[in-house]
Amino acid sequence: MRSQRTQIGIIGGGPSGLLLSQLLQLRGIETVVLEKQSREHVLGRIRAGVLEHSFAALMREAQVGERMDREGQVHDGFFIAHNEIKTRVDVRALTGKSVIVYGQTELTRDLYEARSQSGAAVIHNAKDVRPHALETSRPYLTGRAGTEDIRVDCDYIVGCDGYHGVSRLTIPDDKLKVYERMYPFGWLGVLSRTKPVSPELIYAAHARGFALCSLRSAALSRYYVQVSLTETVHDWSDDQFFGELRRRLPEDIAAELISGPSIEKSVVPLRSSVVEPMRFGNLFLAGDAAHIVPPTGARGLNTAGSDIYYLYHALVDHYRNRDHRGLENYSQRALARVWKCQRFSWWMTRLLHCFPEDSDFDRRIQDTELAYLFSSDAALVSLAENYVGLPL
Ligand code: APR
Ligand code: PHB
Repeated sequence: MRSQRTQIGIIGGGPSGLLLSQLLQLRGIETVVLEKQSREHVLGRIRAGVLEHSFAALMREAQVGERMDREGQVHDGFFIAHNEIKTRVDVRALTGKSVIVYGQTELTRDLYEARSQSGAAVIHNAKDVRPHALETSRPYLTGRAGTEDIRVDCDYIVGCDGYHGVSRLTIPDDKLKVYERMYPFGWLGVLSRTKPVSPELIYAAHARGFALCSLRSAALSRYYVQVSLTETVHDWSDDQFFGELRRRLPEDIAAELISGPSIEKSVVPLRSSVVEPMRFGNLFLAGDAAHIVPPTGARGLNTAGSDIYYLYHALVDHYRNRDHRGLENYSQRALARVWKCQRFSWWMTRLLHCFPEDSDFDRRIQDTELAYLFSSDAALVSLAENYVGLPL
């Protein structure tokens, strides 16, 4: 049995766990991160990478913003296409803020590099991790690393172990309320080594279904089309995918689109979910462990970032200033912002997708919502301020 003691035991070494660990270490607070998978496995996940202003600021505060600032692309706007009409949402002009497009894989790599350089512990391939004694002042984690049993005694445990993690499941059912909505469709995504069709993202609402043109760099495109939940990647050849994508885009954009072999192809279901509260005893939940948003508004990582911001400041206040209010209020404060991000992600999903159960009336309302958006500065400001990130 390998036993160790730390201040904060973190379950999960995705962006949330790594960022929290990095921030705390810079303020002299010790952490141990237990991650179920190998580093390569974590870095093999392809996920969105639109960073709001305050997330980028947190990366800089964590001293991991250098490559993000060098290689990330500052985007001052994006497009919404509806049939043949393409409207630019100039988020910079509307809010004074921009977003940074920087892949989540790269960001996670930067966080891993920083953790390794500081010699800080991320224990990979940690199996059967379990939190214990959460309602006492001596919580601890157990698990296995290789053939060795491990035990980590801590002051607090933070569950950053994503939607399929163990933290949330440890909380008794009667202490937790889950709010959830599943959408009757998914996104089929393709990554291809081709020049992106547009330097700015294009979200397309079309009678055949939603489509998105995104990118990772000047030579790497990321495209999505809405598909039904019964479809799998095997139902879609690259040609079929690009054919369908073109049909959902305005003609001039479709004509410019360069297709190429997919280097990754996957289907993700869309869901909205929140668990309340985000604390049980001395276990705090953060990021995907506590909430999931559909990817439409690019809020997933950013919402995780706001949890980490609140928790980081609460822990620093607790240890440095003996001020415990941040920890006491964490769940309430984090949830207030989480729900606003949920609302926005739900709204954007509703605005841009085809819902199979919609009546003709519903479709008219949806068209009118888009027409209103394109004709009202107030509506555009509302969209833009959510897209660049609401204040923390
Ligand atoms: N024990 C240890 N680690 C675990 C366990 C477990 N039982 N279960 C899951 N994990 C690990 C996963 O392997 C993963 O690396 O926890 C990590 C959770 O990472 P993410 O799912 O990426 O969640 P989070 O760090 O909160 O990231 C925020 O924002 O855009 C969204 O979903 C997107 O990854 C993104 C997220
Ligand atoms: C992506 O690039 O993968 C992406 C971008 C914006 C979104 C969702 C996904 O809203």
